[in-house]
Parts: sequence; C-alpha cells; structure tokens
Amino acid sequence: MAVVSKALVKLGSISIVSSLLITATMTTALANSWSSDLSVEQRIESLVAQMSLVEKIGQMSQVNAGDGDSVQDLGDAIRNGRIGSILNQVNRDTVNELQRIAVEESRLGIPLLVGRDVIHGFQTVMPIPIGQAATWNPDLVRDGARLAAIEAAAAGVNWTFAPMIDITRDPRWGRIAESPGEDPYLASAMAVAMVQGFQGDDLTAPGTIAACAKHFAGYGESESGRDYATTNIPENELRNVHLRPFKAAVDAGVVTLMASFSDLNGVPASGNEFLMRKVLRDEWGFEGFVVSDWNSIPQLATHGLTGNDRESALAAAQAGVDMEMASHTYIEHLPALVADGLVSEDVIDEAVANILRVKFSLGLFGRPYVDADSQPTVDAQEKLETAKAAALQSVVLLKNDDKVLPVSTDRVESVAVIGPLADTPYEQLGTWIFDGDPGRSVTTLQGIRDLAGDDVDVRFVQALEISRSRSTEGFNEAVDVAAGSDVVVLVLGEESILSGEAHSRADISLPGAQAELVHRIRETGKPVIAVIMAGRPLTLTNIINEVDAILFAWHPGTMGGAAIADLLFGVESPSGKLPVTFPRMVGQVPIYYSQKNTGKPPTPETAVLMDDIPVRAPQTSLGNTAYHLDAGYTPLFAFGYGLSYAEFAYGNLTLAASELPMGSSLIVSAQVTNNGDVTADEVVQLYIRDLVGNVTRPVRELKGFERVRINPGETVTVQFELHTDDLAFYGRDNRLVTEPGDFHIWIGGSSETDLRGEFSVVDAG
Ligand code: BGC
Repeated sequence: MAVVSKALVKLGSISIVSSLLITATMTTALANSWSSDLSVEQRIESLVAQMSLVEKIGQMSQVNAGDGDSVQDLGDAIRNGRIGSILNQVNRDTVNELQRIAVEESRLGIPLLVGRDVIHGFQTVMPIPIGQAATWNPDLVRDGARLAAIEAAAAGVNWTFAPMIDITRDPRWGRIAESPGEDPYLASAMAVAMVQGFQGDDLTAPGTIAACAKHFAGYGESESGRDYATTNIPENELRNVHLRPFKAAVDAGVVTLMASFSDLNGVPASGNEFLMRKVLRDEWGFEGFVVSDWNSIPQLATHGLTGNDRESALAAAQAGVDMEMASHTYIEHLPALVADGLVSEDVIDEAVANILRVKFSLGLFGRPYVDADSQPTVDAQEKLETAKAAALQSVVLLKNDDKVLPVSTDRVESVAVIGPLADTPYEQLGTWIFDGDPGRSVTTLQGIRDLAGDDVDVRFVQALEISRSRSTEGFNEAVDVAAGSDVVVLVLGEESILSGEAHSRADISLPGAQAELVHRIRETGKPVIAVIMAGRPLTLTNIINEVDAILFAWHPGTMGGAAIADLLFGVESPSGKLPVTFPRMVGQVPIYYSQKNTGKPPTPETAVLMDDIPVRAPQTSLGNTAYHLDAGYTPLFAFGYGLSYAEFAYGNLTLAASELPMGSSLIVSAQVTNNGDVTADEVVQLYIRDLVGNVTRPVRELKGFERVRINPGETVTVQFELHTDDLAFYGRDNRLVTEPGDFHIWIGGSSETDLRGEFSVVDAG
C-alpha cells in the first residue's frame, strides 16, 4: 500500500485547521467535510455525495492557467465547480486569488491543485535528470528535489510533473535528457530520491509538493527515438524493465502518475486499461490519481483508437485516467456518456475520490493558500552549493590521456577557452526550465576566470555563434589564441533546444562545424581538453582521437561552470558514472549493458571487422556472431563507466556463502584501494547474472551501488547485502519469481568490471 494512505492516516486526527486567509463564510458543505472527526475517507465520501455530476467532472479537469488572457475567465469556471486543477500559473498572488475563488466562492469549496513542470529545479537549476542520474547519488538528488519543491511551493505550486522515470536505451530520443537513463535499478533509486525530495515525510508540511511519476508507461521505447512514436514492448520486458521505476515510485508514496502520450502495443497509454487498472490499481494498490498528458485524451482519436472526442473521453475514463490535462473532452462529453449509461457514475466517483485523496494528503483543505511567511526558506548560498555539488558529481570523465587533467595552475600560464557553449548562461541549464533563472548561472568561462584568478591568463574565443553554426569564420582567431596558450579548453556540445520533448535527432554527433573546430585546434599541437554539454549521449567517434581529455557535463545547470572549473583544475576529482551507454555509431542503437546473450554472442576472435575481412572471403571465415561489421559489438563507453584523477583498484571479492537459501540474504564485499595521489569519490557497483531463467536473463544486471570517498593509499571495504528477492524477475507467466540456480556476481567501477564471484540460490532447507 502506498504512502498516500499513510499520509491520510496522519490527517485523520486533524480536526479544524484554520487557513491563513480564509475570511469569508465557508459553505456548510466544506465545513462538514473537515470540521468533524470523520476520517479522510469519510470526508471524501461525504463530499462526493454532495457533488453534482458537473462538479465531479470539474474535479477531473485540469486547465492551462499560464495564458495571461485566460486567467480572468478561469475564475468563473472555478466558481462553477468546473475546474479541479490548473497548471502553469506561478504568480503567487494569481494562484491565491484563483484558490480563493475555489475555496470561498465555489459551492463545495474544494481547493485547486496547482501543477507545474518542476523537472530539475525551479529558479535554481540542477543538472538535467540524466546528469543527476550520473551522480549515482540519491541523497544529493533528493536534496535537489527538496530545494526545487521549496522554491516552487513559494510560487504557489503544489504539484510537480516529475520525476520523469522513463527507461530509455535510445540517445536519439530528445527526452533522454529528462530520464534517469537505461537501467531499471538506477532509475528506481532516482525515482525514490526525487519522490522523497518533492514530497518530504509529510506532504502537508509547507515547502513540499505532490510528485508525479511519468510517463506511464513505455514512452522511452519510442521507435527510432522519434518523440511520440509507437512503442511495442512485450509484457515481460515491460514488467522487467519499464515498470520497475514506477513500482518503486508508488512504493515510495508518489501520489500521482501521468499517462504517456505513446501507443503501447496498439493501445495508447492514455486509454490503456491494462496499465492503469490491472497493474497500477489491482496489482500495486495505488490510491492516488492518474493525470493524462497534455491533450493526450483527444489524441486517442489521432492515434486511431477512437473515432472522436466523445469516444476518447469514454476510453480514457474507462481505462482509469482520473484527470484530463489541458483538453476538455471530459467536461464536454462525460455528462452525456454517464446519462447514456456508457460510463457508470461509480467510475466517476472513484476518479474524484482519488483526486480528493491527494488534495487531502497535501493538506489543501486546511491550508489552501501560499503565503511567503509560512514557507521554509533556504539560504541563497546553500542553494548554490547544492546545485554545485550536483553538477560536480554529474560530470563524467570519459578520457584523460597522459593525465592532461587536472590542469595545474603552477605549470600553466595561459588557458584558451574556446567554443559555443563556454559562456552561455541559458544553454547550460538544459531543457524544461520554465522558471530557471539564467541570471544565476555561472558559465564555464566565468568559473575558470574565478578560479584561475590573476595567476593564469584566460583567453576566450567563441568561434561558433551557436552549437549548430556552420560558419567557420571565427576559427582563425580561435586557432591563433589556442596556439598562443599552454592548454585549450574546448566547450562544445548541444544547445538546450536540441534535446527535450519533441527534440529528437537522427544523427547524434556534435552538430554544426564543431568537429571541424576540434580538428583545427588539434593542429596547433596544444593539449586539448573537451568539455561537452549535451542533453544526450553523443557519438564522439569522429573527435575522440583529436582531444586529450573529455569531461562530459550533460547540461549541468546553474552552477555548471563553477563545478567544471573545479574539475579542470583538480579542486575536486570527477566522479560521475554513465547512466546510459555511449554508442560508437548511431546504428548500434539500442545498445545497453543489460542485453541478452543471444545464441551467438560475439567475442574478440569472432567479431571480424569489415576492414579486416579478406577480399572475396568465404562466408564461413566470418564469426557468425551478433555484431556489426563496421562497429563491432562494444560501445564507445559502457554503462557505469567514468574515470577519476585517483586510481582505484578492486580486489578481494568476498561472498559470505556460496549457497543462498531462498528467502535469505548474501553478504558480499570487495576492497577498493586508492592508488592515486588525490582523495576522490568512487561509485562502487554490483552486478549479477542469473545464468539460467525460464525467460532468458540479461548478461549483467545492476543490483547495488555505493558512492565512497577514498583517500590516497587508503583501502575501504564496501559491503552489499543481496536478498533472494533482489534477484527476482518476471518469468514466462509474468509473475515475479526468484529461481534456484547459479549466479555470477561482479563488483567494480563500471558494468565492464571483471572481478567476479559465483553463488547459487538453493531452495530453503
Ligand atoms: C509533457 C509532460 C508535461 C506536460 C505539461 C507534456 O507535453 O509530455 O511531460 O508534464 O506537457 O507541461
């Protein structure tokens, strides 16, 4: 049972809570609904019993309040009980006024939910979610979400449409920027952290906001990474991969979910009864509510599932979409659908109860208004420190030849900072930053200047106007400045507009003339460090040999530049690890570490590359294994990969037992030694392989991780506890099972680690 109900239990003891601003006479109905000793469920029941059909459907309708002209009109609709929620209004006074109309002037006085996309920060922007996943630090991610909740709540928002927890293995998909990456275990950890950060321990407390796990479900599997495209995911794969983070979010108490835009196995998610009734309600016992995506209900007709809006409203309501976002098919068609007997009023009542339950759990009946004095405040410096810590830990060091990094200010007198993203306060914030304040951004150029002080001469040339620019006009100047400097920092990547919703790419290499810029700078013979900011993994094959080091910084948010400067100059060591595989070529996609073995797994001997095949070679001389002739079978960088300025060595993998009886736990540990000369964080990762399953199992699966800080010369023992339940998967009958049998287990610093042990799960004796 989800935490929603726990929160309600707490609320059950509250009798009268007087709101700060309610002064007008309350309606009898509202007073009845919360001034007695009734339980929350009884209050909901009592309210629903008093509601007209239109008022009920009003609760099921969410309207865009971000369009300035429409705000006046909204008042009437709210007064008439035709709106249960608004989105995109972040002017606190306007929100309070609309809330006042709902609470004081509508017949039943039911407060509004106020939604907003608070995806990776509000005014203070954290790294994009894929970057946050690269921290492998749920505590930090929780802190970031908490900060965002505090800032957003102060603006009147009480509900965010986050976390986005769509698993994706396709970097072409623009929304990978918002996603926690390719792995269900890591994504689940991120989902839980964000839900806890937004909602806190007590959703009625000021500074907390309702979270929304989205997009339910399978959206990340869009064909060829084209946003909104079809997804076909067998039920077994859906359960083993895509639904796992949603289950984790529900278990962590998320109070709302959002249905996806996408077509899942022929039934678009917003009309998908299997997802919302069978899995979410019947199996998981979810007690909050489901909101559609923006206009996703009328789009059921565009998909071809229904013939018109009326049929779409019917399909969505029957499938279990409790609230409609933006479009109006519910308010326009549900009354007649109920009158015609096509939708039972019980379906409506259940949806309304689900919505009211969340309003109660937020404490909105007692505290509908936001006033600045009752909000928690966070010191401006603390906000920036959290954003900087997140940015620092999100950056992944992909390459560092001859230890060119960190740059020593003792040895370097001049640094050339070159590139279209070196000094762009806005672009570094990434996608989904409606409320982000670029004015707070520290750019890479600024960060370097601040850190280098007077000791180092910092010279800047933008070279390309934006990341997509093709004009090479600025290259000569860039080359001159590079040639005259001791080291070059090239700040490259994608502008924020190139990722996010509806911003998918088919070619995921550096856009515009950036590769040519790298080439020209390379010719100077100076050490070249690339800092790459992007909303997705990029194919870096065409530049990888032309740079000495790469710091992959995603879109790092407000404090990105300060964090990058610290990493460049060795104030801190990079410690991010990839939450998603980097392909060599886009044609390898989908490529991910937890693939199945196939019947013909490739090996270095069998995977003969195209250029090595003798002319007119007989077919039999090829390996006949699962790989590409031109790309091989390995990625450019594997899941979990990321270098450090320290040197970590793993050893002494120890399993407390070689046999694990069903229902018990295995203690497994390894030692990690820092053989380098700087203190640094390492993310220690644990993987398993279930060798035989009634459905085939991935070659590796992440089952644990821990971020540890290790001093030079120090050895730490990192211990994990693995229960047989942690080994469970959905089998051929789509039920969760742990099967007895043999397992491999690895501990190391990436998914490619080879420090391996073995154990067997046996029936409990
Ligand atoms: C997106 C959602 C978002 C909603 C509201 C949609 O287009 O798919 O993720 O929450 O808009 O802005």
